Order: sequence, then C-alpha cells, then structure tokens
Amino acid sequence: MDAVQAPIIPVIGALIRATPGTISLGQGVVHYAPPQAAIDAVGQALGKHSTHEYQPAAGVPQLLERVRVKLLKENGIDVSRGSRLMVTAGGNMAFCHAIDAITSAGDEIILNTPFYFNHEMAIQMADCVAVPVATDDAYQPRVDALRAAITSRTRAIVTVTPNNPTGAVYDEARLRAVNALCREHGIYHISDEPYEYFTYGSARHFSAGSIPGAEAYTFSLYSLSKAYGFAGWRIGYMSYPEHLEEAMTKIQDTVVICPPVASQIAAAAALDVGRSYCEPYLRELAEVREMVLSQLSALAPRVRVPKAEGAFYCFVKVDTSIDPMTLAERLIREYKVAVLPGTTFGMHEGCYLRIAYGALQKATVAEGMGRLVKGLGEIAG
Ligand SMILES: Cc1ncc(COP(=O)(O)O)c(C=O)c1O
Repeated sequence: MDAVQAPIIPVIGALIRATPGTISLGQGVVHYAPPQAAIDAVGQALGKHSTHEYQPAAGVPQLLERVRVKLLKENGIDVSRGSRLMVTAGGNMAFCHAIDAITSAGDEIILNTPFYFNHEMAIQMADCVAVPVATDDAYQPRVDALRAAITSRTRAIVTVTPNNPTGAVYDEARLRAVNALCREHGIYHISDEPYEYFTYGSARHFSAGSIPGAEAYTFSLYSLSKAYGFAGWRIGYMSYPEHLEEAMTKIQDTVVICPPVASQIAAAAALDVGRSYCEPYLRELAEVREMVLSQLSALAPRVRVPKAEGAFYCFVKVDTSIDPMTLAERLIREYKVAVLPGTTFGMHEGCYLRIAYGALQKATVAEGMGRLVKGLGEIAG
C-alpha cells in the first residue's frame, strides 16, 4: 500500500474546506439525482423480505435481464455469444474484479496515459505493474506504442472511452485496432465505459465488446453513477469472457457476496427509465462544455486544450515551469477554484490540470471558470 498513490479527492477536499467559498471543478460527479422511479422502487422493495437477504452473486435476475437487453440494444454486445454478466458495487469494483481474475503477482497491465488514477491503484494493489503508454496529442491511443509495450508478462490493455481525465472519445478505428492487438497477443482488453452517454457534437461512442469474437477476451465495464446520478448507490456491471466465470464468482463472493439488493432494485427501475433520463442533463452539459472551452481559449497559446468531446472533463496543458500540485494549491488558496493536478493521472512531465464541469450548475461553473482563467493568467501567464 505504501507504493500506491493516496487518492487525490480527499487531499483537494481538505484544501477546499480550508478555503471557504472555493468552487470545485475537481470531482468527477454529476449534479443531478436518480430518476424518481428508482427511488419509488426502493420504497416498495423495503417491505419485501428478499431485499434484506443475500441474493445471487452475479446480481438479481430482474437487473441482469435489463442489463442484458441494454447491452444488446445500445452497445451491440450479445452476451449469449460467450460472455457472462456481473453486477458490482460500482464500476471501480468491476475493474478490481477483472484485474484479480486475470493476473498473478508481477503481471503487467497497460494503461493509456493520462490514466484514471483508481486503475493504476487497483493494479498496484493486486501486486501487478501498471505500464503507462502515452496517448497522442489528441489523447487518442497510439496502437504502435501499445504494441511495443507488450511483454510476456502483459495480461491486458485498458481503454477508457469517453475518457477520464481527458474527455477524449476514442476513435472506433483505434478501438478496433487495440482490440485486435489484444486478440493477436492473447491478452485481455478491459474497456471501461462509464461515460458512454456523455458525447457531444458528432462524437460517437463505440463499445469494443461488440466486435465479433471479442467476447473471448474483452471486459466491458459500465456504471450507473454518472448516467443516472447514482454514485452513492454503488451499482456498476460488466460483461466478461465466460471462461472466467469460476474466478469471477470466487472474487465476488469473497469481496461483496452480492451487491446491495436495494441498490440493484433501484438500478433495475433506472434502466427501465433508460438513457432518455440523462438527455436533458446532457444538453445542459453540452452548453457548459462550450462555455468552458471558449473561456479557456482566451488563454491560448499558454494553455492548450486538446479536443474533449466526451465525459465532462478537459485536460489542459499549461506552459509553465510551476509543478501542477503547487499550481492547484495556489488556485485554491488565491483564486478559490479547485482543479486536479495532472500528476494524479500519471502525467509527470509538464504541467497538466483536469477540469471537471459535471457537478455544478452552469452559473457556478461560469464563475469557477472565470476564477480559473484569471488565476492561470496571473500565476502561469
Ligand atoms: C473511468 C472511470 N471508471 C470508473 C469510475 C467509477 O465509477 P463507479 O462510481 O461506478 O465506481 C469512474 C468514476 O469517476 C471513472 O471515471
């Protein structure tokens, strides 16, 4: 554990609390609540004894059925073709399970950098090695570099699309190439897609798990945290290769036995409402995103903002010699705006910051962006 980085959110959270009035563009959460139908379904379920008992490890049947239909209709993943489904207590747990199922100590997992910090942490906690491979200038995966990073210890390549922390939506062609690379080398592809609905403009989400034959070596991970405002309910799910069923069941049984039943019932009701639930919020986020990008453009060329067409993040490069943690601290203390330093996401060369714009109402984001632009202009300008 000593080798694993400390989670950044509580560190930034403490700085924010020490500076009252700070606007946080730090944490990657949405500002809206779950659908009312999900809350009502839980209310009804509380009167049933089965809600209070252990249920099957993989998930309650009504949720698994809705997940099956959703994956087929929306993602093109037909789980009857050689995959299994598992509901987990959030997408992070699905990732940890996947790593535990496929690795021995000392194995390597390739991450595209910048990476999602909990992925690196989970890999290290499994006594494995996270191998960072830099993405290109648009934060898209570089297939040749990924190929060059594969060794006899490599067990998987991880992709996150739409991406946290960059907001990049990975090209379908690159995802197909990464998936083919995994097939060619007999390794797994772990595709983490919690932001699947969060795309803007012409960007389209593509699930690598839909590629014919991919089911033998592809994990497709999803979460209700963002789409349905469900972060505290802790529900995610994944499709995974059927030959891993025994391993996955052992892991699930040991770690959580079964995901919280009341949350699963809420999740089934949320999936009945469907993706249309988040569409009004997405339209709002699209406007907020435009505003964030246009405010940042005032800082060009000192601040570079690669294309960010998904999730609710952008990952900016600041042309300064100040280290990113110092910059983040000064932005909080002196300008009352919080963002996350790029080092958290594996970017140790250069000064990068992640801006998250999903958690706040438009006017608050606008105020926060005003402070950020002023702060960056004065500190790093
Ligand atoms: C890329 C990525 N994967 C997984 C998660 C975890 O989501 P959950 O709340 O479902 O554990 C997040 C949350 O921020 C994320 O950004």
